[in-house]
Amino acid sequence: MDVVQRDRRYLAREQAAEIVQFVRSESSFLFDQRGKKYVDFTAGWCVGNLGWGNEEIRAAVREFDGPTYIHPDYLYREWAELAEGLAEIAPGKLTKCYRATGGSEAVEIALQVAMAATGRPGFVSLAGCYHGNTIGGRSVAGDRETYPNLLPHCRQVKPPLEDRAADRVERLLKGEKVAAFIMEPVVCNLGVLIPSNEFMTRVRDACRKHGTLFVMDEVATGFGRTGKLFASEHFKLNPDVLCLAKAITAGYAPMGATLVTKAVADAARERGIGFYSTYGWHRLSVSVALANLKYWSKHRVSLLANVATQGDSFRARLSKMKFREEASVRVMGLAVGIEFGEESHYASQLGERCRKAGLLVSAEEENLLTMFPALTIEREAVREGLDILEECL
Ligand SMILES: Cc1ncc(COP(=O)(O)O)c(C=O)c1O
Repeated sequence: MDVVQRDRRYLAREQAAEIVQFVRSESSFLFDQRGKKYVDFTAGWCVGNLGWGNEEIRAAVREFDGPTYIHPDYLYREWAELAEGLAEIAPGKLTKCYRATGGSEAVEIALQVAMAATGRPGFVSLAGCYHGNTIGGRSVAGDRETYPNLLPHCRQVKPPLEDRAADRVERLLKGEKVAAFIMEPVVCNLGVLIPSNEFMTRVRDACRKHGTLFVMDEVATGFGRTGKLFASEHFKLNPDVLCLAKAITAGYAPMGATLVTKAVADAARERGIGFYSTYGWHRLSVSVALANLKYWSKHRVSLLANVATQGDSFRARLSKMKFREEASVRVMGLAVGIEFGEESHYASQLGERCRKAGLLVSAEEENLLTMFPALTIEREAVREGLDILEECL
């Protein structure tokens, strides 16, 4: 049986795997088993922000030693170091950190903490959002067609993220039954939707007024994706809860983190909530996350400068491209989204064509294309990838 047959027989997937097998990665390129090179404009979907094969992170993996595993209830110096490091760089006063295995768990913790800290049952989020694969995450996403029995008190607000949406959030929070408002500050899962400053400020103010926690899910946007270390910084708003995962280890090991204010952690603790997670912050993940933080502290300025420069190249080239259908191009740092008409299947067709031609992009929906290249991508690789995209139009 070859890999395709085995995969189809034994792996439970939403749809069959794409027929491509990557065997090597290097900076902004992936190579398949035949040696064919692909320009990687996805970075594993906001995971490999430092490019594939970062030498300093690899060294942390090579040097990993000591006890195989530490039970979550014991002391471990690196846990405290990492939590302190995250608290130092996070926006606002997020000084307490829960240890998770990935983004879904980080969000689930945020939702449970919000319920515990406020004693309320409800959530408000964006229509069509994605916050992970737990029942909590699915509930805030509100996909009741697929999952009919979700948490009952979740409401969604439709984009555009401007005045009318802010009006609706204000109305929904008035009843004071809402534990948390949750969104990605720049919505990667909706094709890089960029909220207006007014929307964010009004929502933050409404949360404060009604005692609702303001949760920023930065699982995708965290660690430089949008041109700031955290996308929340664009809006100068301090979240009560921040969810991190994906690029926190630059792709070398699984990890999630939920940062909260001391007041939120204390309130949750009073109700007995602490979160036991067997593999949350496994030692290996922690060592690479610390290497990632160290890399960011040394190279933050140059990394973010490259994001700005290459983001400008994407914007300039894409705005001149002749797409077959009307396209809305949205670029924030190196988060790039292209939305075609609602009925269009162009994005998925284009994604497929690009892959065959040696460029990896993501088609979120049939009509939504996203690109999340490594933040270290070089000008030449940007040009090479965009040339392929243009040829495939
Ligand atoms: C915004 C957001 N939140 C949460 C998640 C879930 O993260 P994970 O797949 O690590 O569980 C994702 C995954 O894509 C995400 O994009």
